[in-house]
Amino acid sequence: MRIDKLLANVGYGSRKDVKKMLKTGVVKADGEVIKDPKIHVNPDEQHVTVNGEKIEYKEFVYLIMNKPAGYLSATEDELQETVIDLLEMEDAVCQPFPVGRLDKDTEGLLLLTNDGQLSHQLLSPKKHVPKTYYATILGSVKEEDIEAFKKGVELDDGYVTKPADLEILTSGNQSTIHITITEGKYHQVKRMFESVGKKVTYLKRISMGPIKLDEDELKIGEYRELTEDEIELLRHAQPIEL
Ligand code: URA
Repeated sequence: MRIDKLLANVGYGSRKDVKKMLKTGVVKADGEVIKDPKIHVNPDEQHVTVNGEKIEYKEFVYLIMNKPAGYLSATEDELQETVIDLLEMEDAVCQPFPVGRLDKDTEGLLLLTNDGQLSHQLLSPKKHVPKTYYATILGSVKEEDIEAFKKGVELDDGYVTKPADLEILTSGNQSTIHITITEGKYHQVKRMFESVGKKVTYLKRISMGPIKLDEDELKIGEYRELTEDEIELLRHAQPIEL
């Protein structure tokens, strides 16, 4: 990879900024000063430093975030804050994007990566991995809703959902539930409850495939890198029949 691209990728500004920096002689590869932005280096094999500090270059970044309400699951927006605004500079420079979307008012588990292949694999309709949500519902959720969701319900646009697993945690004027779905239609959980005459008043994703949100570890708005084991589990995540 060209040295100017590497340095720009890890956050040293634009290629133009990097070119200026290179001229000052602060960049070295295996101890040799590099001034030419066109020189190729291999950050896995060579010791590349800026002012003596080693450059840690990762091609891919994999993050798990406990998304707060109020942020868009997008990489940029002219008016509103996005989940990317919650990232440290060193992670944002890798240009991760959300794996699928959570609504602006939905909280919980959101994966972010710049690995397009893994993201595609997790979202492809053939491989749609199960996603579980915790929700509070205005209205009394009943056994008949469990049956309806198991069979599939018709959404406002005529689409009939695939079988979903509904678990009632508490039922009353306000109910609390867990729901597992294997699809990712727009506002899917909210629209499923609308189809049975109820309203989602709070929604939080608590798992996606093999990855679970640990809210003791990740407070709302926090994120961390996935471990190698978690990334492997995601690569092998399988669709399930509900
Ligand atoms: N279903 C919804 O309605 N909203 C989400 O954010 C996710 C699933």
